[in-house]
Amino acid sequence: MMAKATRHVLMAMLPALMVGAAPAAPAALPAGLAVFDKQCVACHQAGGSGMAGLAPALAGALAPLLGTDDGRRYVAQVLIHGLSGRIVSQGHVFMGAMPSQSALSDAELADVTNYLARDLNGAKASMFSADDFVRARSAKLTHKDLREMRERVLK
Ligand code: HEC
Repeated sequence: MMAKATRHVLMAMLPALMVGAAPAAPAALPAGLAVFDKQCVACHQAGGSGMAGLAPALAGALAPLLGTDDGRRYVAQVLIHGLSGRIVSQGHVFMGAMPSQSALSDAELADVTNYLARDLNGAKASMFSADDFVRARSAKLTHKDLREMRERVLK
């Protein structure tokens, strides 16, 4: 049987060992998932898989947008202003209407977009901060502006 003292030492070391094993466990992701499952899942479906005729996929599909500054600005703007009109995503045409999510706090918006980026699109690091949404709120952009921005980034 393991000596009590040894067990004690092991227990004391455990937090340090766990930190060593998972240095990047980011606090934002479970929070972002919670926002997603409350606010987005009805349209974008579990895990952001999307549904033809309803809402585009967010898993994988956003990676080309998230790779540029303009693409990240576009994503933040869609959350603030919503989006409507024709877009093509992964070969599917959408003519939907996404309602503005601006009732969410800037922190919740950062959490949910970092969830999209990291959990659903393979980003290595968080790329959105609350400040991005402060800026997005002050920009006046129409849905047409946003669709053109999207086209430019994906071209
Ligand atoms: C009522 C349904 C609905 C809800 C709720 C909704 N969306 Fe959307 N979303 C859409 C539709 C529809 C589009 C495409 C709009 C179009 O066809 O112009 C879209 C587009 C998007 C886009 C742009 C995708 C691209 O390829 O350009 C992002 C990003 C996005 N949604 C994220 C979210 C997030 C995050 C939430 C939750 C905070 C959310 N949406 C909530 C329906 C919804």
